[in-house]
Amino acid sequence: MTQNSASKLLNGDTLHRAKQDKKAGGNGFVKNHCLFQQQQKRYRRPAEKSHHASLYKKPFVESFEETPLLVAVLTYMGYGILTIFGYLRDFLRDWKFEKCHLAREREEQKDFVPLYQDFENFYTRNLYMRIRDNWNRPIRSVPGAKMDLVERATPDYNWTFEHTGKVLKDVINMGSYNYLGFAENTGTCADAASECTVKYGMGVCSTRQELGNLDKHEELEKLTARFLGVESSMVFGMGFATNSMNIPALMGKGCLILSDELNHASLVLGARLSGATIRVYKHNNMQSLEKLLRDALIHGQPRTHRPWKKILILVEGIYSMEGSIVRLPEIIALKKKYKAYLYLDEAHSIGALGPRGRGVVDYFGLDPCDVDIMMGTFTKSFGAAGGYIGGKKELVDYLRLHSHSAVYATSMSPPITQQIITSMKCIMGEDGTTLGQERLRQLSENTTYFRKRLHEMGFIIYGNNDSPVVPLMLYMPAKIGAFGREMLKRNIGTVVVGFPATPIIESRARFCVSAAHTREMLDTALNAISEVGDLLQLKYSRKNRHGSEGTDCFSFLESHQD
Ligand SMILES: Cc1ncc(COP(=O)(O)O)c(C=O)c1O
Repeated sequence: MTQNSASKLLNGDTLHRAKQDKKAGGNGFVKNHCLFQQQQKRYRRPAEKSHHASLYKKPFVESFEETPLLVAVLTYMGYGILTIFGYLRDFLRDWKFEKCHLAREREEQKDFVPLYQDFENFYTRNLYMRIRDNWNRPIRSVPGAKMDLVERATPDYNWTFEHTGKVLKDVINMGSYNYLGFAENTGTCADAASECTVKYGMGVCSTRQELGNLDKHEELEKLTARFLGVESSMVFGMGFATNSMNIPALMGKGCLILSDELNHASLVLGARLSGATIRVYKHNNMQSLEKLLRDALIHGQPRTHRPWKKILILVEGIYSMEGSIVRLPEIIALKKKYKAYLYLDEAHSIGALGPRGRGVVDYFGLDPCDVDIMMGTFTKSFGAAGGYIGGKKELVDYLRLHSHSAVYATSMSPPITQQIITSMKCIMGEDGTTLGQERLRQLSENTTYFRKRLHEMGFIIYGNNDSPVVPLMLYMPAKIGAFGREMLKRNIGTVVVGFPATPIIESRARFCVSAAHTREMLDTALNAISEVGDLLQLKYSRKNRHGSEGTDCFSFLESHQD
């Protein structure tokens, strides 16, 4: 549950779904993922089925178990009660019986159309504030497999926090995107970064085009291009800006963007800033995407019916709230069939997927040249900061001149650049060791183990079997706060997420598995999750817990094999 404007954008994006989705619930969100997956199955006629099957070289297993009806009803009731109390509290605040700490209209502006008062503000004031202690917890160490948290206390029911002076030591970190465990303050990456700081300093104080073009940046770009298997690449100081500033450099008026409904806020912002027309398709649903592509070709632009100047499909490798993996083989087939371009954001999948850690393209064994624009960030698997764009040389050369984040932003800090170079070389085995391969294998093993155990315990977990992002469904608003707090009591740091980052009834805990987690750490975390699951009655799954991936009507298993 993030309260910033970025998540509002995400929410703005998710609201698009209501328009397109015939089955949207009362709140406008798709609740029954199982249903939409079944639709997708129905869509495959036998001839197509064999065609699609040949696109996948290994089983593709994703599960989105349907929300049990009683749980859905109780969740809505929970929000209903909170809303009634919220209005009551607002009434008391209006009459000055209670102090309001949040941004409100000033007295002299009371005749204006309200600037702040929208649903999200009501939600923040009356719902989020009750459980705000679960977010923005200060960390006092490297965000590795274990971390130290600063203890806080609130004198006024979460409106403000004070540090108690105590530190919670060695909390098992199940929330950072430290997939390969490179978020470290010792070892070769940390040593190389500190040496680099001694030589180059921390900041660059200029843009790439002026005096901010270091030899280190060029070295990293060459290495990234080799890592991705593309002709050329460019790196940027910030992952978010890589999306939000490069999409507008490529797309504009008269262009069409086809965007997955669960795309990250940075992609949504980039698409909106570009001025192109945006159409949103159902998450990872090829039927929905193909319909939009076909319509785009048949009807062209609205009113004039001129052909679209260009069509760009925007997707992510791993979707960070759902733990799902993009159906890349089918998307590539569609983009070729309809002659559209493809922009792939690998923020979560680069380093975390594929036998060589080279992302979703590697995972499916595809040709990187089939993706027109490869984007990714260094903030997750590389334990650093920044983002990249990879692709054909012409594309990258064009962006060097036209992207706002290339021309106007200060370039990447030297120790960050070095951290990425060292960790990438380690993944590629170019450091002369097998440590990178071992981390990849460990991440994959940990992911399988963690997902399997949670499934056996009876939790509803979303996503792909191979995804290290593991969402565990909590649903009810009271359980969001309770889960985070109970886990912390057991010395486990978790991330809990709710509206507006998820549909309102699909609150969840989102675990990120890391190669740095030992089996003992995972077992400690799993035991705590199970205990809290019993305490809060979170074991909602009605799937066969010990059988193979769901064969009942609540699961979705699609196995494509040559
Ligand atoms: C899919 C996706 N793209 C882009 C970003 C932005 O990257 P950064 O946090 O490195 O700025 C994120 C951040 O989590 C993301 O999940």
